[in-house]
Formats: sequence, C-alpha cells, structure tokens
Amino acid sequence: MPPGSLESVAALLRESMEIVVFSGAGLSADSGIPTFRDGATGLWNQVDPDTVASIHGFRRNPQVVWSWLLELKKLVDDRCPNAGHQALARLEEVCASKFSPTQLTVITQNIDGYHTRAGNQQVLEIHGTIHRLRCQQHCGYAALWEQSAREPFACPRCGAPARPDLVLFGEMLDEEIFAAAEMRSLAADLFFCVGTSFTVQPAALLPLWAKRAGATVVEVNPHPTPLSDAADYSIRSGASPFFSALCAKLEEGLA
Ligand code: APR
Repeated sequence: MPPGSLESVAALLRESMEIVVFSGAGLSADSGIPTFRDGATGLWNQVDPDTVASIHGFRRNPQVVWSWLLELKKLVDDRCPNAGHQALARLEEVCASKFSPTQLTVITQNIDGYHTRAGNQQVLEIHGTIHRLRCQQHCGYAALWEQSAREPFACPRCGAPARPDLVLFGEMLDEEIFAAAEMRSLAADLFFCVGTSFTVQPAALLPLWAKRAGATVVEVNPHPTPLSDAADYSIRSGASPFFSALCAKLEEGLA
C-alpha cells in the first residue's frame, strides 16, 4: 500500500457524506469462495458459464444450471463472511453513528449474501441472491431456497419454471435495483471498488459514472484492473487487510 494512502483515505471518508462500496467476488475470496476469473481457481476456468449460469443454458437444460448453482450455494452456506465484510459492516455503523448523516451503501455483484450476514443494512444486490427462488415469469412467487429443493420445479402460482433469484448471463438486471445503484453512484463523494475485475456490464459502468459525477474513486485489489488508471487511489491490497486497517484508523480518531 503506498505510504500515507490509508491516512488519506481515512481523511476522505471523514469528510464524505455519501459513500459507496462496490464489491465483487474478490471480497469473498478470504471466505473460501472461489472468484470467477482468477487463474486456475477461477470458476469460469473450470466450467463454461454459458452451460451452468446463462439463461440459454437454463432453457436448454434447467437441471444442469440448478445443480451447479446448488453446489455453489452449499459452499456459500458452509462458509461465512470474512474480516473484510465485518470491517465494511462496522464502517457503515461508524458512518451512521459518528459521522452522521454520512450514508454508506454497498452495491454488490456478489450473490452470497455475505454483506447482509455481516451486518450491512444498505445493500443493493444488483446480480440477485443465491438464497432465494422466484418465478421465471415474475408472477410474484418467491421463496427461500432450501438445499432440499434440488430439482427444477414449476412455479406453484402460475406453472412457469421456478429458478434461483439471481441474474443469469444473457438476462437484464432488476431495473429498480440498478436504478437505485446508479443514483447512489452519481451521488457518491467517495466510491470504493473492491474485489472486481470490471469485466461485466452494466455493473462496470457504476464506478465510471461515479468518477464522472465527481466522486473520489478508491480501488482495492491485489492486481491491476482496467479501472486502475482511472481510479484516484489504486491500492494493491486484499480487501480484508485494507478495510480492517481503515476501520481501525477511523476508530483511533474516535476513541
Ligand atoms: N481482495 C480483493 N480483491 C481480490 C482478492 C482479495 N482477497 N482476491 C482476488 N481479488 C480480485 C481479483 O484480482 C479480481 O480482479 O477480485 C477480482 C475478481 O474478479 P472476478 O472473478 O471477475 O469477479 P467479479 O469481478 O466479481 O465478476 C463480476 O461476473 O461472472 C460474473 O456475475 C458474475 O458478479 C460476477 C461478475
């Protein structure tokens, strides 16, 4: 981490009113959840996303998509939020209580629900969640996804296919949730980008919109990404150590 960047980011955070944390799979890496594109361990280097995680694959063979996502759900259910998630939940709490009315919003591409499990309240899951099922036709049916539901089944309300409530490749994002994410990004004074390779649209537009609207952009990633040059701070660090240190720095000043 470049010397002084932690102090500078902590000072920026203290002065900010609207903070956004935009997260990707790298944040959950320390929980033991594989990322999608990191070298040999990346999930998309092991299976074809079009077969196991796309709407075309679901229409071709729903059981294949259902089974692959169920295995991922079992891994997520067996693991837990890490120090990076806990530090971000603490940051939201500190901002709301000590730097009120500063608001911290998490916009996550992750489907593991770990931000909410760690305690963050303001969370926008723009790619949905692996913990819920819904009707393919959006008839209103929704239910928690229990691991016992191993086979695709028909929506009990309208008979269309039921499916996990997450965004498959080839599908649109939930308009309302993405509009809220866009609004928060445009209002942000400070926009953290953590653990994402910026390879998926339209999510990857959010940090660029925030920057264009005047936010200071802080990237936290052990490796460079296509956003690194545009970021105001590009911090080569894992999420857990950086956000734990940032939390400690902020709380030093509050003791
Ligand atoms: N801390 C922070 N960043 C990390 C860590 C860590 N400990 N470990 C890895 N990373 C970084 C990697 O360097 C990489 O840039 O996390 C990023 C993970 O990138 P991807 O695997 O592409 O994940 P993500 O950017 O979230 O993918 C976006 O693509 O497959 C779709 O819908 C899926 O939401 C996902 C989207």
